[in-house]
Amino acid sequence: MAVDRSLTFTGIQFENPFLLSSAPPTESESNITRAFEAGWGGVVTKTIGLHPVVNVYGAKAKFMRTSPEDANVSMKKRPGAALHSSWNWELISDKTLEWWAPRIRRIKEAFPNKVLIASIMAGSGNDKELRHWQELAETAQGEGADGLELNFFCPHMDRRDMGSNIGKDQGLCSVVTEAVKEVAKVPVWCKLTPATADIVVEAAACFRGGADAIVSSNTFPSIPLIDPETLEFEINVDGFVSSGGLGGPAILPLSLAKMAQLTKAFPDKNFSGIGGISDFNQALSYFALGCGTVQVCTAAMLDQAIGPNVIRKLLAGLDRFLGEHAKDGWKNVEDFRGIRRDRIVLQSEIRRPDSADYHSGYETVEGYAAPQPEVAVRV
Ligand SMILES: Cc1cc2nc3c(=O)[nH]c(=O)nc-3n(C[C@H](O)[C@H](O)[C@H](O)COP(=O)(O)O)c2cc1C
Repeated sequence: MAVDRSLTFTGIQFENPFLLSSAPPTESESNITRAFEAGWGGVVTKTIGLHPVVNVYGAKAKFMRTSPEDANVSMKKRPGAALHSSWNWELISDKTLEWWAPRIRRIKEAFPNKVLIASIMAGSGNDKELRHWQELAETAQGEGADGLELNFFCPHMDRRDMGSNIGKDQGLCSVVTEAVKEVAKVPVWCKLTPATADIVVEAAACFRGGADAIVSSNTFPSIPLIDPETLEFEINVDGFVSSGGLGGPAILPLSLAKMAQLTKAFPDKNFSGIGGISDFNQALSYFALGCGTVQVCTAAMLDQAIGPNVIRKLLAGLDRFLGEHAKDGWKNVEDFRGIRRDRIVLQSEIRRPDSADYHSGYETVEGYAAPQPEVAVRV
């Protein structure tokens, strides 16, 4: 049976459910063009704003690796080390809306069947800032963007009314979403920060404001490690560092936990999953929890900047998976979306051992490590 990769998500028709997330892989027309040629079903542009953007001096992102030899997590490159995570303190796009507008149009004209979502961000402190959100939304959709992703999460913000400072305030989440929905003719997705006590609260606020989907997770707040030789942070400017965002394999289980909370709380809503995806097996966990699409950043950055091999593996994995499950009648992602959502329950609902094995509630073995052999102590 022929497999069907296509889907409709928030009313948008996708060739396949795999998108490049808003980040360096989608920061330019040439990158997005290469991404579409490589097979990505969609892209979310690097976040576009109206305020001037000046990044820190030097590197804006680096990768941490670890190896069985030293078990260190370090940005230092060494042979045989495997990717642990990305770390970045990059701001939103340093290009203006005027720079982006004709590019969005040209890209959509060249790739009418691919999906382009414009990521946008403004402040929220007053009506003028809310009007900025509307200006960004109206321009992007006017140039042909298929949807809008509201950046409610950027973790490197000093302004109290921007980025994750919106995502941490349910009132602002709702007000900004509503302001964008007032002018939006295309679907509106809200990308939330994972750095709150209960992401369900902010998601509920976005849905109250009219959001068509929630996107999670963004990077997790983190700082780089201190080099034991130099006693300097592995990434710093003049010895100083500030909180940045962790992405890649290290955040996969953390992002899945956030997604499970969301899809369980709102089983009938739309979700796009992000965090630590580099091949189909990881994407599958997000689909099985209830996501309709997934997005990739770190893995693509490390694969020729836009992930041609990553998308090849994602598509091949999806085709193989659907082929294997043709016997179950599964023809597309919709047929297995959410199949494991209900398996996440309260700890108290998880079965305990039978009473014979339960030792009245106490384990006989001490701790997790295997018992040490008796060693004769000489006195
Ligand atoms: C260098 C860098 C820049 C990023 N810039 C943005 C951005 O401008 N807007 C945005 O929504 N997310 C941004 N992100 C977050 C990613 O889109 C993504 O949510 C995050 O990296 C987790 O996915 P991953 O584990 O596949 O990397 C950035 C990530 C990195 C590493």
